[in-house]
Amino acid sequence: NVTEAYKGWLTYKKITGANWLNENNKWLRTIVVKDHSEVMKSAKNELVNAICEMTDEEPTLANAVESSYQILLTTSKDNNVESLDELNEDGYVIQTIHSNDRSYISLTGKTDKGVLYASFHFLRLIQTRTNLDNLNIKENPANQYRMINQWDNMDGSIERGYAGESIFFENNKFTTNLERIKDYARLLSSVGINAISINNVNVHAVETKLITDEFLPDVAKVAEIFRNYAIKTFLSINYASPMQLGDLKTADPLNEDVRQWWKEKAKDVYRVIPDFGGFVVKADSEHRPGPFTYDRNHADGSNMLAEALEPFGGVVIWRCFVYNCMQDWRDRKTDRARAAYDHFKPLDGQFHDNVILQIKNGPMDFQVREANSPLFGALTETNQILEFQVTQEYTGQQRHLCYLIPQWKEILEFDTFAKGQGTPIKRIVDGSTFENKLSGIAAVSNIGNDNNWTGHQLAQANLYGYGRLIWNPDLSTEEITGEWVRATFGNDPEVVEQITTMLHDSWPIYENYTSPLGVGWMVNPNHHYGPNVDGYEYSVWGTYHFADWQGIGVDRTVKSGTGYTAQYFKENADMYESLDSCPDELLLFFHHVPYTHKLKSGVTVIQHIYNTHFEGVEQAIGLNERWSKLKGKIDEERYDNVANRLEVQIENAKQWRDIINTYFFRKSGINDEKNRTIY
Ligand code: GCU
Repeated sequence: NVTEAYKGWLTYKKITGANWLNENNKWLRTIVVKDHSEVMKSAKNELVNAICEMTDEEPTLANAVESSYQILLTTSKDNNVESLDELNEDGYVIQTIHSNDRSYISLTGKTDKGVLYASFHFLRLIQTRTNLDNLNIKENPANQYRMINQWDNMDGSIERGYAGESIFFENNKFTTNLERIKDYARLLSSVGINAISINNVNVHAVETKLITDEFLPDVAKVAEIFRNYAIKTFLSINYASPMQLGDLKTADPLNEDVRQWWKEKAKDVYRVIPDFGGFVVKADSEHRPGPFTYDRNHADGSNMLAEALEPFGGVVIWRCFVYNCMQDWRDRKTDRARAAYDHFKPLDGQFHDNVILQIKNGPMDFQVREANSPLFGALTETNQILEFQVTQEYTGQQRHLCYLIPQWKEILEFDTFAKGQGTPIKRIVDGSTFENKLSGIAAVSNIGNDNNWTGHQLAQANLYGYGRLIWNPDLSTEEITGEWVRATFGNDPEVVEQITTMLHDSWPIYENYTSPLGVGWMVNPNHHYGPNVDGYEYSVWGTYHFADWQGIGVDRTVKSGTGYTAQYFKENADMYESLDSCPDELLLFFHHVPYTHKLKSGVTVIQHIYNTHFEGVEQAIGLNERWSKLKGKIDEERYDNVANRLEVQIENAKQWRDIINTYFFRKSGINDEKNRTIY
């Protein structure tokens, strides 16, 4: 159903209001394509189709710049274009050239990928009504790997998916709807994504066979679609494959037969997909098999796979989400937050150079607020990429509005002090701080086969913003939001203003009515939706808040707690260790304090809990009021989608408010200073 909801930010509405078009239409009539490749063809098609939709005129194609006012797509050196030498593999220059005999707009890339990215950028300029007469833009992506992880299962379900079923698989087969996959490739490529793993990190029985002849031809078809949009395809693999697919009795990484098995397997895969990206691996994590079974460590495990992939230029992306998920809640010494660092820091320097460790942004699990992983900065000799979660597992499951760009910005800007002041996470994961060979950012996708891709129409902004932010982490949230709103909904100032404000307010609102002060969790077990303060309190998962009648929080200090704070560099370790300097928003992540403890904001912890929960509901109601102003200005499909979800959000926020407030009132016996209703 190719509506605007479906087209997302690649909505190219007919340009009305003659001004911009009168001045700029001259540039849009002819396209000259210099080199020929599938990626170049994609670039050309994107331009032709979009310009046609926006201007009602189909641009003509030419082979050389002959007359004035043309768009030139090229990877060859154009002497009129400045600074081509400063481009990296995916970089590009967009420049309006006024030479002696003619004027034209050059979209030049070092490679055809750069030209494709330039084309999408150029279209964005039109969507946001930029004057084209004097363009001079140079772009290089900051991150080398800009990746999306699908958590899709072959039965069509999606782990933590909130927007329908898989667009890749159904009934344990590949889909026949390849058009939809192509449209996904277009959306991803338009924001610079260049790698994708298409199946869940939890690799079950059928998915284990993705690397066999049964499914490789299908994988190849999907890889071709993505390749044409400059995206490399990866698969998540099952570490125990040699036992499940082969006839080996072991998956021990140091066993010669196992090593040989994987080498043969890599050959099979590359025979079918010569530019295959590599394997994503979740091992020894949440009951998945891994090297620990054989008393081997994660360097042994990943290096074995790396050797198999190395002859073909493939890489192993090895996840660091390794912790004890069978913890005894009575044991106050074991701290899940410590786990990734404790497992991987001692192995720094032991990984082959085609192994990349994938590290979640925080040490727990994509909470609305948690500390940043202390592994960033601690691994100085290991390739690494950071993992975000675009799918809103713990942030409202795409029924609530929660714009995550501000959260990711904060994380990327966080100063680790790894090489003294001024070593932010963004400069570690882009490979520049430690000169890593391979580096970048990955994230769990938020799309499914709902017509609008993301369930909540406005959750598209998280996917768009993810791509834009990791292309250039120096972009501000405001710049990213501005682009997305205008590309998606057009340039009506009222629409732009209301939606922008809604997005920017939404993460703090969600934080207000859910779990307080960085303590996290307090959700219903398994599906993780809705409030349940003790849902995980007496569980095996290592996710506790330790609330009693006097206080709450996890003591992670060196002085009296789990010692987790020592995993940070001194400046941060000191800041978190001391109650005086620990920031309010992470107080309960690092400290166990009485309810009467006074925050820097001046209120007590208990009063803060009451205040934010009452306020959060009011703010959610405010979101709805803003949206309702846009009735009639947005098509019904998109308007109703958001309106309906905001209703759900408000009801659910009330539920959160009343359960959290009541729980802590009953525990503490302390009254709300403002005497509001608590049950
Ligand atoms: C979370 C999530 C799981 C997922 C896991 C992972 O725990 O709830 O569904 O498999 O993260 O990242 O591997």
